[in-house]
Amino acid sequence: MVATYETWAEPLSARLAKAALKGTSVKASDCVLDIGAGTGALSLQVAALGARVTAIDLSSAMVARLNQRLAPYPECKALVMDGEALTFEDSTFDVAFSVLSTTLFSNWSAGLDEAVRVIRPGGWVGIVHWATPEGADIFTILSRALKQLSLPTSSPDVPKLTALMSVHELRAALETRGCEVIDVERIDAPSPLPAPESFMDTLDPIYRRLPTYRSLDEDLRDELRILLAEESRRWIKEDVPAGRTAKAHLAIARRSSRQC
Ligand SMILES: C[S@@+](CC[C@H](N)C(=O)[O-])C[C@H]1O[C@@H](n2cnc3c(N)ncnc32)[C@H](O)[C@@H]1O
Repeated sequence: MVATYETWAEPLSARLAKAALKGTSVKASDCVLDIGAGTGALSLQVAALGARVTAIDLSSAMVARLNQRLAPYPECKALVMDGEALTFEDSTFDVAFSVLSTTLFSNWSAGLDEAVRVIRPGGWVGIVHWATPEGADIFTILSRALKQLSLPTSSPDVPKLTALMSVHELRAALETRGCEVIDVERIDAPSPLPAPESFMDTLDPIYRRLPTYRSLDEDLRDELRILLAEESRRWIKEDVPAGRTAKAHLAIARRSSRQC
């Protein structure tokens, strides 16, 4: 799904990453950690600034692709690593980011503990979490289409995000970890969308990660393809103009200079 992610998800995360970068004023020579870096929406922007970025991701396919893209920047690298158990020493980085990653971790709490642990006292942290349970528009559209299919009752639903979706929760989680929160901003996060006629086939590599979708037989897939085309047309005509697209929260904080 790496290529599909790069085409259909990265443009959205690149916008969020740009806002996060602006908030933390990363400068050339800073040591920056990108947690759950994916295909490099943030890492590539940081590398272009002349900072030394270390990107980590649990997916070796994402890491392989990102290392290709970081090749022009010899001081930057991507590593396979679990963001819930980083292998770096305390206070290794000037800045740590998590753009749409800790929001998806099975243990987001460990992810945030680790993000704060590895930045130096006084260092910056930029965290982007989804503000709505379904996250990106492509999943809201899928969820609406699936609701119209007659699925067996045992079918699992589209997973709902639960991690720190309110401004208050995100702020409190960082304060509890010894950070001074500078700001938590709500950001519109609409995704680019494939054409309705090819919506399902284009996004298939991303949707395949969801148990409900994977469990569909050929007949249900054919039905879903039509429903997704209809729902994506409705989304573009009604929801986008009404501003009902995905929202994210960007928290910018500094690790307290006093050790907690
Ligand atoms: C929605 S993507 C975000 C990628 C990138 N930050 C961006 O904004 O485009 C979430 C990423 O987190 C990674 N991920 C999920 N759990 C992880 C974990 N425990 N440790 C490290 N990465 C993880 C996934 O492999 C995926 O690349």
